[in-house]
Amino acid sequence: MIRKAVIPAAGLGTRLLSVTKELPKEMLPIFYRDSNGEVYLKPMLQVLFEQLYKFGFREFCFIVGRGKRAVEDHFTPDYSFLDLLEKKGKEKFVKSLKEFYSMVEKSTIVWINQSEPLGFGHAVYLAKPFVKDETFLVAAGDTCIISNDFYHIRELINKHSEGAVATLLVQEVEDPREYGIIITDNNNHIVKVVEKPKEIISNLAILPMYVFEPVIFNAIEATKKGYGDEIQLTDSIQKIIDWGLKVNHVVLPKNVIRLDIGTAQFYYDALVKSYNNRFFE
Ligand code: UTP
Repeated sequence: MIRKAVIPAAGLGTRLLSVTKELPKEMLPIFYRDSNGEVYLKPMLQVLFEQLYKFGFREFCFIVGRGKRAVEDHFTPDYSFLDLLEKKGKEKFVKSLKEFYSMVEKSTIVWINQSEPLGFGHAVYLAKPFVKDETFLVAAGDTCIISNDFYHIRELINKHSEGAVATLLVQEVEDPREYGIIITDNNNHIVKVVEKPKEIISNLAILPMYVFEPVIFNAIEATKKGYGDEIQLTDSIQKIIDWGLKVNHVVLPKNVIRLDIGTAQFYYDALVKSYNNRFFE
């Protein structure tokens, strides 16, 4: 079992300005339906954390930066607030918050500060002291993947256990220019990964949930600034390929839902998709 999850949430979220000037984009709400079909609004990051917790992860490392205190506050149980809610008779919300707080209490949560937003790859690199020598999962704090019974996490971990040093989730999209993409050969092996390609050279877009061996840290160290003048994780994965190490991937079926809040349009789609979601975890 992989125990450690690294969740980068220190980006500036410039594509969502001005809402992200003070509010971390990872705290933007999406809809969440419980098993009774009851609908709630939860921050994206809480939905992601709860999903990983329910799957079995208990050690979390959040990468946060300037102006992200709202994230740490949200993940700090506030029992006096629960008392107040209880007195006001808000049972539904008391129950939901209690469940969240119980997951927080039963987890080890480490906060690492990224003082400058030098990129997604750089953010992952900062988790090195937390990861040590273990296999670990990375999930971007601004994306949540929804599938039936954690299908995507299960597949990702199974595929990784076939002996790769990095394993990616991909899904076919019409226009991959806002994403990282993979190019495969005739044997379905990845030969190239590209961050935000200018041309449509492949329709297989990378979803930001990965499993890595610690060798990814060596690859990030060797990675120069790329797209957006930032250290891109996709470029580090390319390094791993260049070094001849095995990178696996899982192609997710169309019905697996990607909730991405990176741009205003994606956010709108994420709200609609999360409201209509009927998958149960
Ligand atoms: P993005 O590249 O989509 O996010 O990062 P961004 O830089 O916040 O957004 P824009 O391009 O300015 O709109 C994907 C994930 O990686 C985190 C983000 O918080 C997001 O969850 N990230 C990104 C970091 O933690 N640090 C960084 O330096 C960059």
